[in-house]
Amino acid sequence: MTASEAKKQIQELTEQINHHNDLYYQKNKSEISDFEFDQLLEKLIGLETEFPELKLPDSPTQRVGGTITKDFPSVVHEYPMLSLANTYSPEELKDFDARVAKGLDGEAYDYFCELKFDGVSISLKYENGILTRGITRGDGVRGDDVIANVKTIRSLPLKIKSKNVPAQFEVRGEVFLSKEAFNKLNKEQEDIGEETYANARNTASGTVKMQDSTQVAKRKLDCFLYYLLGEENKVTTHEESIKKIESWGFQVSQTYKKCKNIDDVLKYIDSWEKKRNELPLETDGVVIKINNLRQQEQLGFTAKSPRWAIAYKYKAESVSTRLNGITYQVGRTGAVTPVAELEPVFLAGTTVKRASLHNANEIARLDLHIGDFVFVEKGGEIIPKVTSVDLAKRDEKLKPVKYISKCPECGTELVRKEGEANHYCPNEKGCPPQIKGRIEHFIARKAMDINSLGERTIAQLYDLGLVKTPADLYDLKKEDVMKLEGFKELSTKNLLQGVEHSKTIPFESVLFAIGIRFVGKTVAEKLAGYFKNIDGLAHATIEQLLQAPEIGEKIAQSVFDFFRDKENQHEIARLKKAGLQFESSFKEPEKESDRLEGKSFVISGIFENYEREQLQEIVIKNGGRILSGVSGKLNYLLAGENMGPSKREKAEKLGVKIIGIGEFEKMLKS
Ligand code: IVH
Repeated sequence: MTASEAKKQIQELTEQINHHNDLYYQKNKSEISDFEFDQLLEKLIGLETEFPELKLPDSPTQRVGGTITKDFPSVVHEYPMLSLANTYSPEELKDFDARVAKGLDGEAYDYFCELKFDGVSISLKYENGILTRGITRGDGVRGDDVIANVKTIRSLPLKIKSKNVPAQFEVRGEVFLSKEAFNKLNKEQEDIGEETYANARNTASGTVKMQDSTQVAKRKLDCFLYYLLGEENKVTTHEESIKKIESWGFQVSQTYKKCKNIDDVLKYIDSWEKKRNELPLETDGVVIKINNLRQQEQLGFTAKSPRWAIAYKYKAESVSTRLNGITYQVGRTGAVTPVAELEPVFLAGTTVKRASLHNANEIARLDLHIGDFVFVEKGGEIIPKVTSVDLAKRDEKLKPVKYISKCPECGTELVRKEGEANHYCPNEKGCPPQIKGRIEHFIARKAMDINSLGERTIAQLYDLGLVKTPADLYDLKKEDVMKLEGFKELSTKNLLQGVEHSKTIPFESVLFAIGIRFVGKTVAEKLAGYFKNIDGLAHATIEQLLQAPEIGEKIAQSVFDFFRDKENQHEIARLKKAGLQFESSFKEPEKESDRLEGKSFVISGIFENYEREQLQEIVIKNGGRILSGVSGKLNYLLAGENMGPSKREKAEKLGVKIIGIGEFEKMLKS
């Protein structure tokens, strides 16, 4: 393909994908299937890899990440990013209203109310309609430019389509993780036996600062915009500016309302107090702004916040109750979680008896003493949490909590690894909840999907000494199962059939099921696709593991260690013998020779007698590998006509051998 052909295609694809993206994220419509969308994206990624100089500034490929930023550049805000003063009662709001009335010398004014979204604020800069910077608040004066991460937010326009946008402007808003995205992320954490995140806000804040934008893209951040800045915007009210940014394609929450006076504002606040819990994201209050921009200017700012706006924070429902004790739970990976055992108390619709305390740091932070009266709130309106101690009620005689040093389940001395918040029980193979937890993970729906087994049956099988590892499930006999409480002929048959059926579950699910630390479902799929079978994976060196797509050092080390463990080897051998799938069912093109074994290729440009796909197939059939781009790992760049100059340059710089079709054909014959 010539550069000019590529340019045309890249332009077309960029436009097409951005169109479908806008339709989907802004209008909730789709004209093509996910599969077709992914194919267009793949095609564009391919072309951009080949012709990187032709990549457009609004390329949708930026949505999937791919940038690693070690240090985010620190940038001074053009307009400082101030915060808002908080109020907690109608009286305080009325005081604010009185200050406004005074500041405006009796002039009439309107308010504009929005919900206060609980995320991290971001300032976006657009130049000539293109998103160029995404800056965090930082200290208000300067923040970090996290643009690569911001570009993964699908609802944000990378380029404004409307013609009438000022040459430069800034919009500010709140980046957040929706409740759904947050729950999904925590589910994935559970799947790999990792600690779950405590709340969506902090997680969003951590995500915005991650170095690898590919990881950020997976977490699906979202953003609501609520503030337009810039001199040439030609708007006179906040309402107009909100409508304007909406018309430019920004996502604005539809929960706003213009209010005539402070009583109207109070009604708005009231109306959202309960309803806000049904929204897809966390909100913690209402922001009240003077609508007229000239009046905003007249009121001005204090050193910290505008005088023309204020936040009203909803009171999280909070109750005080006695901390009766702390119990400790041990998870599948041995991580210990302390749990507050509370005197039962009614809170926001349910009776609360227990609340997670997460780890020893949290206990120390709260300075808990057994017998203390503690305040309990419902974080995220669902999960109860202990927020503080009611010190006025503390009895002098109470002693601070001393964190346990031995596993409550098996008595083994606990360990706490450098830099980790959790204590762990290292007795992986002998600690009952760890053993049962591994079997529960093994049978889960996304793993071996044995739904004839559940937590209670596993506990019984374990207690009777029948099942200690997943492989034991495949040795179960009818007479064993009949020993279980409540099991009769039919339920026994069911259970055994479920176990039998799991032998057809594909390799990637089996790989997930065996519970290698950090290997979640997606990673298991990548590993299965790349290594094809368990032996390839089990014998892989760290270097080979790192070659697999999306596998970083932490995962590579964990996989490597897993397969070096004698007991794990024995377990895998037993599972193999039982007949589980340890081979990927994906069919490779049939092998013709080993002539290209160990050699990697990138194919670029056009060839007289071959299509590019044909050449790729030849490479694979002869034992070679196709890489996605020129890098230090590459052996050969197979160059056709009109290959992009930058690719050649890069290959030369990295010392990658550049060959023509003649030399390639020779390699196949030798
Ligand atoms: S307007 C001059 N509107 O709350 C400040 N802020 O405590 C203008 N926030 O920094 C901010 N929802 O991060 C505004 N609808 C909303 C908001 C909102 C959430 C955040 C924002 C701000 C903080 C102030």
